[in-house]
Amino acid sequence: MAVIEINHPMALEKLTVMRNKETASNKFSRKLEELSLMLFHEASKNLAVKKIKVSTPFHEIESPILKNEILLVPILRAGMGMVPMIRRFYPRTHIGMIGLKRDEHILKPITYYINLPKKMDDLEIFILDPMLATGGSILKTVEILSGYNVKPRAVISIISAPEGIKAVKEKYPWLDIYTVAIDEKLNDSGFILPGLGDAGDRLFGTED
Ligand code: PRP
Repeated sequence: MAVIEINHPMALEKLTVMRNKETASNKFSRKLEELSLMLFHEASKNLAVKKIKVSTPFHEIESPILKNEILLVPILRAGMGMVPMIRRFYPRTHIGMIGLKRDEHILKPITYYINLPKKMDDLEIFILDPMLATGGSILKTVEILSGYNVKPRAVISIISAPEGIKAVKEKYPWLDIYTVAIDEKLNDSGFILPGLGDAGDRLFGTED
């Protein structure tokens, strides 16, 4: 398993905007989309290609396209904010949703929605969730997918806590994690520090 921390200055600046509690919901949403696309570029770098025939204005050549289609699996709610720009960039993308809500007391995810394509074995699967905190949501999502006999290629997460990375590493050593930053730690309520608050609430403007 590899944990790939994107150390790109532009990504770090965008994350600074997301961390700032003064950043309004629409701007937060825009930065989340942009960072998701940057991470997706990295995470999709080694996808297999196949050649198809194409005619340029001068010649017919064999030229590469992606071998398999892509399945994005956003974890609701906040993962939905990561989908739009990736999809504009690469339209041949399927979306399979998994709805999880972390119980505030036990910090374990409760599954409330699953809607996945019927056939997934030929798809390249990427899990999207802005925050990897305890890792419970990612563990649950991989478990749900394995119930359909498929494995995700990678997790794409804007910020991650060392505790969550450790938990995912222990259970699924083959799974890659792409993240902009690995933060310091979790607080007693399971929030990432210094973090960016609750991504879902900030994205959808539902904070107190
Ligand atoms: C947050 C976040 C992740 C999860 C991370 O979701 O968006 O999905 O917690 O925590 P974990 O690694 O400890 O599982 P939340 O339950 O607040 O739901 P929301 O996206 O609907 O706000």
